[in-house]
Amino acid sequence: MPILVTGGTGYIGSHTCVELLENGHDVVVLDNLSNSSLDVLNRIRSLTNKDITFYEGDLLDRDQLEAIFNAHQIDAVIHFAGLKSVGESVQDPNRYYSINLNSTLNLLQVMDQFHVRKMIFSSSATVYSEDNPMPLSESASLQAINPYGRTKLIIEQMLKDHYQANPAWSFVILRYFNPIGAHLSGEMGEDPRGRPNNLMPYITQVAIGKLPELNIFGNDYPTPDGTGVRDYIHVVDLAKGHLQALEKAKETGFFTYNLGTGKGYSVFDVIEAFEKVCGQKIPYRILNRRQGDVPACWANPEKAKKELYWEAKFGLDEMCRDSWLWQMRNPNGYEKTHTFVSDKG
Ligand code: WQD
Repeated sequence: MPILVTGGTGYIGSHTCVELLENGHDVVVLDNLSNSSLDVLNRIRSLTNKDITFYEGDLLDRDQLEAIFNAHQIDAVIHFAGLKSVGESVQDPNRYYSINLNSTLNLLQVMDQFHVRKMIFSSSATVYSEDNPMPLSESASLQAINPYGRTKLIIEQMLKDHYQANPAWSFVILRYFNPIGAHLSGEMGEDPRGRPNNLMPYITQVAIGKLPELNIFGNDYPTPDGTGVRDYIHVVDLAKGHLQALEKAKETGFFTYNLGTGKGYSVFDVIEAFEKVCGQKIPYRILNRRQGDVPACWANPEKAKKELYWEAKFGLDEMCRDSWLWQMRNPNGYEKTHTFVSDKG
């Protein structure tokens, strides 16, 4: 029975589809292509030599969603789809609340209608409040500090309420730390539209000459070298975590897990590791802190290790290696070499 992957042509979604197909699952993807392109499907097919069923569309379109559940005997849903830019969410909070919350509510209602009661939800470490001691356990206090993070926290609570009212459901909430890296083949990876917000795609675009230098947002944090510390996790490790979460979803219940490595690296650590891989210096300048950034954030991954039988395998060097290989194979990004739906006019 197929797995429905909402947002399956996105960065983490596409890598998860590869792992699902390679492990014998049938996969149905629903994606509105607002932040990806149809080429991702071809990359998934060529990497796995398997076919994948794709519907271009939106979780807000209830008729289409019902048609998908009518056409396929969906076993479980991995729910990635949603808007995910912190900065954008501050500029346009209503759009984030209406899209992220209403699409999830639509999905829940149609799943109930078709008696599909297993959901893996793509959440984020951004739901943890800033004053928690490190490392972060799943029981740490929760308080998002931007509308994007608040949509993740509200959805977690919506799903928990739904479970408490319907204990026949299985929910597995996965809180991602900082996903970076790319498929080991170099044929698929992160490809943000426009100027990257996140550190690694920015560094790779500096290394390939698309951007002049890296802006480091603050070197006066209370961290070993003054720059922000994060728990970077290889996107393939993250994708494999979803396979384990699917196994867990065979049990009814409401489960929450951190998907991180348990190690924190500073911006300078990442720059140093990346320079080793690409063989060139990464020019940078120090700017003021970025609003909303926390000094340090890294996971206690023990619960996922114990209950999902999952732990991250790749270290920072492999994450940098794979990010660089992908960037070299994909120098111009989708914007230049792929047709976006919106570009079709
Ligand atoms: C990492 C570090 C920056 C860019 C965000 C979201 C989070 C999740 C992952 C969705 C920080 C520094 C960055 C740059 C820099 N996304 N930095 N110059 O902010 O930890 O997490 O992405 O779920 O929800 O909040 O990731 O990669 O933006 O920043 O100095 O150009 O790199 O200050 O210390 P972040 P990031």
